[in-house]
Parts: sequence; structure tokens; C-alpha cells
Amino acid sequence: MDRKIGELLEKRRLTDSVSEEAARKLREQGRLTVHERLGLLLDPDSFVPLGRYVQHRAVGFGMESKKAYGDGVVAGLGSVDGRRVAVYAQDFTFMGGSVGEMHASKIARIIELAVKLGIPVIGLNDSGGARIQEGVDSLKGYGEIFYRNVMASGVVPQVVAIMGPCAGGAVYSPALADFIIMTRKSYMFITGPKVVKASIGEEITPEELGGAGVHASRSGVAHFVAEDDREAITIIKRLLSYLPSNNTEDPPLVETGDDPLREDPSLEDIVPDDPVKPYDVREVILRVFDEGSFLEVHQHFAQNAVVGFARLGGHAVCVVANQPAVMAGSLDIDSSDKISRFVQFCDAFNFPIVTFVDVPGFLPGSYQEHHGVIRHGAKIIYAYADATVPKITVILRKAYGGAYIAMGSKHLGADFALAWPTAEIAVMGPEGAIEIIYKKELEKAENPEEMAKVFVEKYRSEIANPYVPASRGYVDDVILPRETRPYLYRLLLFLLDKREKQPRPPRKHGVPPV
Ligand code: HXC
Repeated sequence: MDRKIGELLEKRRLTDSVSEEAARKLREQGRLTVHERLGLLLDPDSFVPLGRYVQHRAVGFGMESKKAYGDGVVAGLGSVDGRRVAVYAQDFTFMGGSVGEMHASKIARIIELAVKLGIPVIGLNDSGGARIQEGVDSLKGYGEIFYRNVMASGVVPQVVAIMGPCAGGAVYSPALADFIIMTRKSYMFITGPKVVKASIGEEITPEELGGAGVHASRSGVAHFVAEDDREAITIIKRLLSYLPSNNTEDPPLVETGDDPLREDPSLEDIVPDDPVKPYDVREVILRVFDEGSFLEVHQHFAQNAVVGFARLGGHAVCVVANQPAVMAGSLDIDSSDKISRFVQFCDAFNFPIVTFVDVPGFLPGSYQEHHGVIRHGAKIIYAYADATVPKITVILRKAYGGAYIAMGSKHLGADFALAWPTAEIAVMGPEGAIEIIYKKELEKAENPEEMAKVFVEKYRSEIANPYVPASRGYVDDVILPRETRPYLYRLLLFLLDKREKQPRPPRKHGVPPV
């Protein structure tokens, strides 16, 4: 027995650590070992491994002598701040974290288990992609992971941190997850700089091609950027604190100590008197929701829209807003993708959605049209109309044209639409409108500028204000900015028990614009 126990303990030791030399190399690059990462993520002594002694069974290319327990990935169950999760973490020190058949089967199994248990999946990715020596078995492994990602979508939250390279097929499992956190030491691309150079002659560094900066700000692939592994894990924990464990649960209620009925008079100083002056909509969000509770998602991408999680009286909600400080808050291709995807996530996981509107319209021009702003903008309409969770919309200032309809209007099923007294709701802004409807009068006028001012005033007072839509019931109430927080809180308490009145016609699934 002693010998057998000794043998087991030795094997266990091998699964619980990497060589000192390999750990040193990672440390020099500012990366942690797989065990250090899991140690930071999981509650002490909570980890239960899966497939601990799994090894690949590949032959040829020297694979017989390249074996390690676990096959380059640690997977299992554990808890994060007391919440149960399924987790996998790739070990770069074994064959560059490359994904072979057995490595893949562990990841696929942990996702499958997460769905059965109704718990979130967390991936800590650090991998050179498909294990070249395993050929098509490796591709099969990836396919099986992707299949599980899709089956888990909308059932349990899937969060992936990219903590090293993530090349080739490795990018698609994270892309199928709900949230991607990239560290500054990581990169993601379908083909690396060498292949790029060989195939199209473009010279580019890994960072320029697929670093965290570029994916967080330009491609929108990354939702969060972390300086290093530690910060990435802190972000995962914060994100998890908002998320329900699965789609049958409500998001966790957390005591924040901030009085939900507190009014905030300073909200009345944010929207400038001049309707074309910008302001930062985050100033509104930070004042309306529980102090310190706003977690912005996609902070650096499509900054003309702001999305994120917040709490109101401790209840987690999703916040969507136009951002007048960037491109006057107009909607374009990227912000449409950002908003629609977030609304879909929030609907899948039972988050009430609070939308703040200040939008002059969709961004005009050939770039937007030729790159499909019609197709992308339609995603926002689809996502809001499709969402059955509580939806409350607050129109702060401009709400024009198609963008008014798209941004969670009552016509797309908002449960309540509110407006601040500064709201301007119409087919288009006053300047554009009077040029069309008073074209002849302005052409004939001796002083067209003076006349235009009069028409703009008339347009504002008769059309572009909150009381015309309120008279039709399209806006339920015009509220004081200071009372936004208590007003939303009272509404939220009613809407938390919302059930869709009308069952929707049976269908396999809709066909949303993509
Ligand atoms: C097998 C791999 C590997 C891979 C790395 N290694 N990637 N082994 N398959 N895909 C091994 C290396 O041989 C090396 O082994 C060890 O991991 C560390 O790699 P290094 O190159 O020494 O490390 P580094 O200099 O840090 O560079 C890391 C890297 C580079 C940038 C990830 O290794 C690389 O470019 N790898 C290939 C990336 C790639 O093109 N992947 C796409 C595969 S195709 P030793 O024994 O020397 O320690 C793909 C398509 C799948 O994924 C599609 C599915 C849908």
C-alpha cells in the first residue's frame, strides 16, 4: 500500500505543477503558470479535477516521448467567491498548450458538464492552436469543442480569458463564448504574422495584428483588457458577480448599501442647454445606479455606445446607452453589433434592460452603407424586439428616426418608456427637417437664417418634444432627471415578475440579421 500511495502522490505532484525551468520562462514573459492562475481564480481547496491523468495517444513525429498527465490542460469543477463553476486552463509549458484530441476532449467534457450542472464555464486560454502532429484528430477535437460552445450558448455563461497566444482554430471557441478578456501579453489571430507575410506580403507584428489593444478597440473581439493574468482574473470574478449561473436563474442580488430611492439633483446639470453640445452619458449612468456598481463592457470598442452591467437597489441590470460624447452618439455598424449582442446576452440570462437614448440617427455615408449598416442596424431592432426580459427606456435628449425606434422604443416592446423634459423625439432633427418642409419658403426669404431660426423653434415646440409622443402613449411619463433612480427602481420591482403576455408563435428559431 505504501508503495502504491507513494506512486500516486508522485503522479499527483506531476499534475499539480510545471517544471521550475518552464515556470521561470513564463514568469520572464509576465505570465503565470496554469496552477498559479487557477490558484488565484478558485476558492482554496475547491478544485475537483477532471481527466487528471489523461494523455494523448498519438504516434509519430516523436509524440511517443512527448507525454504529460493532463495533456496540456487542467480542467475541473471549483468555486469562485462561493459560486460553483466549471473551468479549464491550458498549460503552455506542454507543447505550447496545443490542442490535441485528448486535450480537446477534456475541454468539450467540461463544457458539457457545465450545461448539465447549470454552472458557468471559465476558460483560461494559452495555446498555439491545433496540435500539428495530431493532424485531423486535433481538428475533430476543435470541432467538438465548438459544438459544445454552441450547445451551451444561452444556457450557461461562458467566459474566456486569453493569457498567451491564441492562434488558428483556438480563436473560435472564445469567439463563441459570451465574454473575452485579453491580457496585454496575449494575442489572437486566425493566421500569424509569418503566414500573413507569406500569403499577402503584409509585414505586421503580433501585437498590431491581434494584440489586446487592437481587439478591444477595433475588431471588438475582446470585451475587456487586463494588464496581466492577475487583473484578468479580477475581471472574471467581477463579471461573475453579476451573472446568474444559468438561464433558469435570476442574476444574483447583492446588497450595495446605496438607497434606491435617493434622488440626485445633479442629474439636472448633465444635459447641456445647447442641443448639439456633447456630454458623457456615463455621468448619467454613474449617478442613476448603485454607487460603484457599473461594469462597462466593450469599453474601448464602438465608443459611440455604452453598454455594461450595473445594480439598482442591488438588482443586477443591463445598461445600454448612446454616447453623445463620441460621434454625437449616432449609431453605426460597430455600435449596432455591440448593442445587439449585449441585448441578446442580457435577454438570455434574465437581466432587465435599461436603455438611455440620445441618438441623432444612423451614421450616414458610403463607408457605412457599403459595409452593411442596414444589415447591422437591423440587429438592434431584432434584439430588442426579440427580448422578453423587462425593458425600460429613458429618452434623455435626441431620439430621431429609425434610431429612435431601434433604441428600445415602446414600439419594439419596451415595458415602459420615460423621457426627460429635454427629450426631442421626431422623424429627424429640426435643422434637417425645416430644410425639407420649408424649402420653398426659405428659398424665397430675404433673411433665410432668421426665418430658419423661427421654423426650428416652431418645430421644437410643436413636434420635437416629449409631450407629443406622451400624448400618444409612446412615452409613459415625462420625469425629472433627479427622480430617475427612484422611478426606475419602483418600476423595476414591478417588472422583475414580468411574464410575456402573448405566447409567441412556435418556431424553430428566428432568422436574425447577421
Ligand atoms: C504543436 C506546438 C504548436 C502547435 C506550439 N507548439 N504551437 N506544437 N502544435 N500548434 C510547441 C512548439 O513546438 C514548442 O515545443 C512549444 O510549443 C513552445 O512553442 P515556441 O514556438 O517555442 O514558443 P513561442 O516562441 O512562445 O511561440 C508560441 C507560438 C508559436 C507563437 C504559439 O509556437 C507558433 O506560432 N505556433 C503555431 C501557431 C499556429 O500557427 N497555430 C495554428 C495551427 S492551425 P518545444 O517542444 O520546442 O517546447 C490551427 C487551425 C485549426 O489551429 C482550425 C480548427 C478549426
